[in-house]
Amino acid sequence: MAYKAPTGTADLLPEAAQKWTLIQEKANEVFSKYGYLLMETPSFEHLDVFARGIGEATDVVGKEMFLVFSRQNLDELRGGGALAGDILALRPEGTAGVARSVVQHSLVSPGATALKVYYTGSMYRYERPQKGRLREFHQIGVECIGAAEPTADAEVIEMMMRFFVGLGIPEASMQLKINSMGDEHCRPAYRAIIRDFILGHPELCEDCARRADTNPLRAFDCKNERCQAVLNEAPKITDMLCEECLMHYQSLKDLLGLSQIEYIEDHRLVRGLDYYTRTVFEVQVTTGLGSQNAIGGGGRYDRLIEEYGGAATPGLGFAIGFERMTLVLDELGAFPLFSPNLEVYIAAVDDSCRDAAYTTASRLRLAGISCDLDHQRRSLKSQFKAADKNGARWVLVIGPDELASDSVTLRAMETGVEAKLSNSELIDCIKQMKEEV
Ligand code: HAM
Repeated sequence: MAYKAPTGTADLLPEAAQKWTLIQEKANEVFSKYGYLLMETPSFEHLDVFARGIGEATDVVGKEMFLVFSRQNLDELRGGGALAGDILALRPEGTAGVARSVVQHSLVSPGATALKVYYTGSMYRYERPQKGRLREFHQIGVECIGAAEPTADAEVIEMMMRFFVGLGIPEASMQLKINSMGDEHCRPAYRAIIRDFILGHPELCEDCARRADTNPLRAFDCKNERCQAVLNEAPKITDMLCEECLMHYQSLKDLLGLSQIEYIEDHRLVRGLDYYTRTVFEVQVTTGLGSQNAIGGGGRYDRLIEEYGGAATPGLGFAIGFERMTLVLDELGAFPLFSPNLEVYIAAVDDSCRDAAYTTASRLRLAGISCDLDHQRRSLKSQFKAADKNGARWVLVIGPDELASDSVTLRAMETGVEAKLSNSELIDCIKQMKEEV
């Protein structure tokens, strides 16, 4: 049998892993300027954490969860028994886990300074794989918990846009879409209106019709063009917001204007997670990704903390998808060329010198100099090839002569210039040359 990674997963080969590292470093650089700290939650939680937070009626919870069973659980189920204990699930996103953790550890008390955290890691959704859509993918997410004012919404959006621009995505190739989902005062009435609108339009597809009772607002996400045309004519939530939600939405738009952040109001932007209240937003790219063109999205979730038993605490955040962003950055040629950049390669002339090569490498690494050496007893020529492939600036040749005189021959790869150095001066000499380059 030829072993392959499961459908919808992708190996992060070294070059992709370097891109992941670079994006995480950029996240740390940008987000730390806004006061965010890294936090991690488990990659699996009790299923109920996701069901309560994200919502039973969402596709993410209703259709796309990967459940986690122990061997014992599975054997019990196969034998016709019932599951003992709670059901666990792989995380489809990071917000629910962070909110659960905030309540569990009492991280935010009412009125206290908002908690600002970000996280990076794998997420899992059992979706139909396609370009930019995987079953295991990587997100960088941000949560700001405890802040109710629209300045927090504007700040989070500004930070996301600066992150994208900082990575090399030009503003002109992104569209920031915003909407308000209202709150518990104004949304129920709007939901009922959309339910009736769907029922009054039998030309809508089966999926939309089915959603009328379970999750009518999700119909706005239908990809069917005929449904989109019909739903374009549906009443807009922004015409039905209560006064407080309307003021919040208006302030956000004013603040984005002050920061000169361009946005498009999209009354059909509803997002696929039920916890959102008021602000929702998404960044879509205009080229390269086909239908999976959302590189990041988020919004406000002022009732989520209560779902886990915490005191009423507002919150908001966003997440960006690493794989989609990589597709965009690759197309733009925005990633730097990744080449190995070893400082030194140590070449042994024959077997009698291999131990000396090994101990020299060990000394150099301890002194903070990156180096590598051959572990396959390969010829000197092959060792020089390996040095070249690894981008080594200098090769240290150790042969019987060097062994006898307690020295090494240092060759600069770029110029071919060689010099004999005693072992006692070797490290200082390389450090000095590093500074000069
Ligand atoms: P989301 O829109 O579901 O939001 O996901 C955020 C981003 O993750 C998407 O814009 C996309 O780039 C990426 N993504 C989602 N699903 C996939 C997939 N199957 N394959 C590849 N990439 C994918 C959230 O997850 C919310 N937790 C964001 C948030 C944080 N809201 C408030 N705080």
